[in-house]
Formats: sequence, structure tokens, C-alpha cells
Amino acid sequence: RVSNTSTLLAPFGPSIPTHSEDRVTVMPGFKIRAILPWGDPLTHPNAHFKPDGSNTAAEQAQQIGDNHDGMHLFPFPGKSDEGLLALNHEYTNLEYLYPADFLPQATLSEEKANKAIAAHGVSIIHLRRGPNGWDKVPESRYHRRITGATPCALTGPAAGHPLLQTQDDPSGRLVLGTLNNCAHGVTPWGTYLTCEENFNGYFGNGNPNDPMHKRYGIANGFGYRWHEAIPRFDVARTPNEPNRFGWVVEIDPFDPESTPKKRTALGRFKHENAAVTLAKDGRVVVYMGDDERFEYLYKFVSRKPFDPTNPEANRDLLDDGDLFVAEFTSNDTGNGRLLGRWHLLSRANPKIASDPRFPTDAEVLIFTRAAADVAGATKMDRPEWIAIHPTSGEVFVTLTNNSKRQADAVDAANPRAPNFWGQIVRWQEAGNDAAATEFAWDFFVIAGNPAVYPETDPRAGSINVTRENMFNSPDGLAFDRMGRLWIQTDGNYSNRGEFAGQGNNQMLVADPNTGEIRRFLVGPSGCEITGITFSPDGRTMFINIQHPGEAEGHPRAPGFPAEMLNTVLNQQPTLFSDWPHSQFPEITGGRPRSATLVIEREDGAPIFGAA
Ligand code: FEO
Ligand code: CA
Ligand code: CA
Ligand code: CA
Repeated sequence: RVSNTSTLLAPFGPSIPTHSEDRVTVMPGFKIRAILPWGDPLTHPNAHFKPDGSNTAAEQAQQIGDNHDGMHLFPFPGKSDEGLLALNHEYTNLEYLYPADFLPQATLSEEKANKAIAAHGVSIIHLRRGPNGWDKVPESRYHRRITGATPCALTGPAAGHPLLQTQDDPSGRLVLGTLNNCAHGVTPWGTYLTCEENFNGYFGNGNPNDPMHKRYGIANGFGYRWHEAIPRFDVARTPNEPNRFGWVVEIDPFDPESTPKKRTALGRFKHENAAVTLAKDGRVVVYMGDDERFEYLYKFVSRKPFDPTNPEANRDLLDDGDLFVAEFTSNDTGNGRLLGRWHLLSRANPKIASDPRFPTDAEVLIFTRAAADVAGATKMDRPEWIAIHPTSGEVFVTLTNNSKRQADAVDAANPRAPNFWGQIVRWQEAGNDAAATEFAWDFFVIAGNPAVYPETDPRAGSINVTRENMFNSPDGLAFDRMGRLWIQTDGNYSNRGEFAGQGNNQMLVADPNTGEIRRFLVGPSGCEITGITFSPDGRTMFINIQHPGEAEGHPRAPGFPAEMLNTVLNQQPTLFSDWPHSQFPEITGGRPRSATLVIEREDGAPIFGAA
């Protein structure tokens, strides 16, 4: 077993116990506070949250959105106590969004659809550390809501392509809104990247005979029913609208008038996050996962280098470059790691040039999954977040789980069938150059359950998983500036069977050098833990508690059977969480609300590392 002698983890105690309660617990020596709950007023100070679900669409568009996910704090220059928080709102829980008498109903009104659309997107929030700690300032010109209806530009090689044109936008260059904003990225030039993940869930009447609808899961949606009220979400009426979602979107948080840009050069799939670094020659490299069972890992390499002396020259670097997809082989590199390769996704790759589905590189970018299918990529166990070590440049990815992997389809990087618990794979690029076309990989951890399975069983996980720190479904992943790895989970919280003893979703802190992992925090009922960013002085860590009170097998989960949807929605939601109110009574309750958690040492020490 891994020794617990890590100097990186010296400021932290042992793993805390897990639990199934409706509250957040954290390691002794730390204090927590919840801020920015879903529905609090943002762009209008009087758009107050109504706990009975009766807020209108117009009010929701002025409030903080739902289901907080990836986020980043952009400090004001030279300030450690003030900045702009860009915060993703991945989706909405219909059972909590509307009044109790909403369901069932025969038709969805446009007003109801618009309220859900306004709960999606991104919030830009002017934050300040005041006498009572970090919180949003009451009013600011920077406060902004970007929703599922905010005009966004399509840019890069596929912009304007006929497949991106609609009746409302014959230019193929202007989309209304960004949707399913999962995790995020940050560029060296100070912009925010928000990643569109399960966009297919918002569209109805997909064509079952269209191979690309099938490849992207565009069918009858996840129960939002927007297509009943708004024609652009009805694929039968607006066949190209789904092609305008599934992109990485760049936002300048400091310019409230700026138009978000969907960067088509980064490909179209169910984007999780976008981890950005620089190659040795200064070109911009973006690592990206496609989170669905048996999907792929990608990287983009810009054509031009980043120029720190010329900010204007960097604004459109993400519009021009090469896209690659990863293959994880079982070939030994001779250095204790296995060989990986990056395959080019463009017509310069003969396998793609010979495929009639890709007459130009624009089709490669719009139907990236299909191009990756022919390039020789490895089908992974649901790639979620990617994080890059701040000094070594090593890249880590969470492969969250895969209940559908069959015994005859395991491979070196995805070795278990089925895979209930997930794993974290890491790699070093050849020559430590992020633009390299080969890499050497191994596992950082294979999660499992050593309380249920004996140590020698692969289902118990790797040696750094113990009864004290075990978890399932790693998802959020980030390094602090000290080089500690923070692991956030979004998995099964039943605390039974394969997951016995693992409790609610949690956050762990790890030493990437020794492999040691300790449980740092446990979340409230039904939530996932996601999103992570730090104050510039290293005193504060912010994380998100997403979808507290969400029932297992929720309709918005990918793969949820459509025929079960009405059954779930017709039930009065079981209010088994009233978080954050249950723990922080000053926050209005009545229904569970996603919120941001502020975490600091009780002694105020800057242990997360100053910028
Ligand atoms: Fe939005 Fe794959 O998590
Ligand atoms: Ca989520
Ligand atoms: Ca996630
Ligand atoms: Ca997840």
C-alpha cells in the first residue's frame, strides 16, 4: 500500500469518513460557506428567488442559472480579493424549476420552455472578498447572464457551412444560445472556454434514419420538450439546428458586450472540458474529452503561436489549427509506461480523405465523432475532465465509469467490464512537448471497492485505493498551484452493493508523485461535486455542489430510457434534500439549489498556492 509520507499533503489530516446526510462535511481545520445559489438575483437586484417555482422566464434570465458546473475566477489585475467568476450552468432539474402543479400537462408553453432555456448557459459574476468573506457585489456592470438564447457567433473553418445554416440564420454564423455548459477552460490571453456537452437532449423529432443523428444521439431529447413550443428545437422543422451545438465557446468575461464565439476548429462532440497549455514553440494546445461511453480523447494544436506581447494577435488563435484523436496502445515504451498516439483529423489523413462523408475539413469538424471512428482511436470509459500538472506538463484524465463495456471489448486503458467505478489515466507527451504525436501513459488510480472485493481482485481498485478513501466515478479534476491533484466525484451514492461504504459524492486530494489519495470533503444528498477555482492568493478554493436532491436515474442522465420519463416526471418529486438551506439557513430553501462552496483554512493560511 502507498505510504502516507507525502510532504505535499502535510497540511491535510487523514481521510474523513463518508456519509449519506444532507450536508457538506470537510476535513478538520477548514471552514465552508455556500454562496451564489441557483435563482439568486444577478443582473437585476429585485429578481428574487421564489421557493415555490413561480419565477418567470424573464426573472430566471436575471438570476443565477441552475446546475453549477465548471468555473474560473478571473482576478482583477493585481487584486487578490476581487474578480469575475465565470460559472457554467449545465442543465436544469424540471422537477424543481417549475411549480408543483406543472406536471403532468398536455403541452409545454413557450414561457415554460423559455424559463428552462434561461436557467442554462453561463453567469459572469463580479465577486469580492468583504468583511463577511467572498460574495457577489450587489450591482455591477460586469454581472452578465449568457443563456440558451443569447446570440453567439460560429467562427473558424466550419462557420457558414451549409450544414450550419437555418431559416432564421442563412449565414450559418449566428446561433441563439449555448447549452449544456459542462466544464470549462481558461486561455493564456484571459478568456473563458465553456464546453457544450449533452446538447442532443434538447432536440425532438430526430430522424432515426440519419446516421449522424444516430451517432450524436439526436432523437427525442431528455424530456425538456422545448421542440413542442419553439421550432428551432424541432429537428423535423429545423434539421441543422443541432449542428450548431456541441462546440467549445470562448467568452471574454471582462467585456459584457462581447459576443460568445463557438470555435468550430475544436470539433463537435459532447465536450466535457478544455485543458489549455502551450507547446514548446508557443502554439496553443487544448485537450478535450467527449463524455459518453466508448467515446474519445482529443487535442487541438493551433497553427500560430501565442504571443504574450501582442494581445490582439491571440484573439482568434482557436480558429486555425489541427485536431487529433488519441489511441492508447498496450505497447511498452520501455520506461514503465505504454505507448499512445495522436491521429490527425483532417483530409491530410488518408483514412479521412478516402471517406466520402468528408468532402472538406468542415465536415470533419461538424461530424468529429465519425471522423475519429475511422482514424484508429481508442474507445474510452467516458472521458470527463482533463487537468495538466502545473510544472511537469503531465496530463491526467478522469474516465468516470462504463456500465456497458463487455468482457470482449476491454483494452489496456479500459481494462474492466463492466466498469462501475472509473479510473484516472495520465500521460507525458514525447519530448515533454504538448504538440507531440506520441505519448507514454499509465494509470494514476483505478477506483474500486476494497470493502466488497479482496485486494487481489481488479474490482478492489489499484493499491492507492483503501477502505478509508474509496470513491466511484471520478469526474472533476484540477491541480492547485502546489501541484496537488483534486478529484471530484459524480457517481452512485446509494452506499449499497458495488458502492457500499462510499456514501455521497465527494472530493479527494492527492499527491501525484506518491499516489496517495485522501478524502477531503463529502457532499449533501443527491449531489455531484464539480467545478474548482482558487483565489489568486491561494487562501480560498471555490467548488460547486451541483444538483443536490437529484434522484438516482434522473431523466437528464445520458441513456435514460425515454419511455420511463413520464413516469418519473408525473411523480411528485421526493424532496430528500433541502440543501443549502438545510446547512446554511440564511439561504432560502423550499427546494434544493445548486450553489458554490467557499472553502478556506480556519487559520487563513494560503495553502492552495499563490498565483
Ligand atoms: Fe457534464 Fe460529463 O459531465
Ligand atoms: Ca453534471
Ligand atoms: Ca462532469
Ligand atoms: Ca459525470
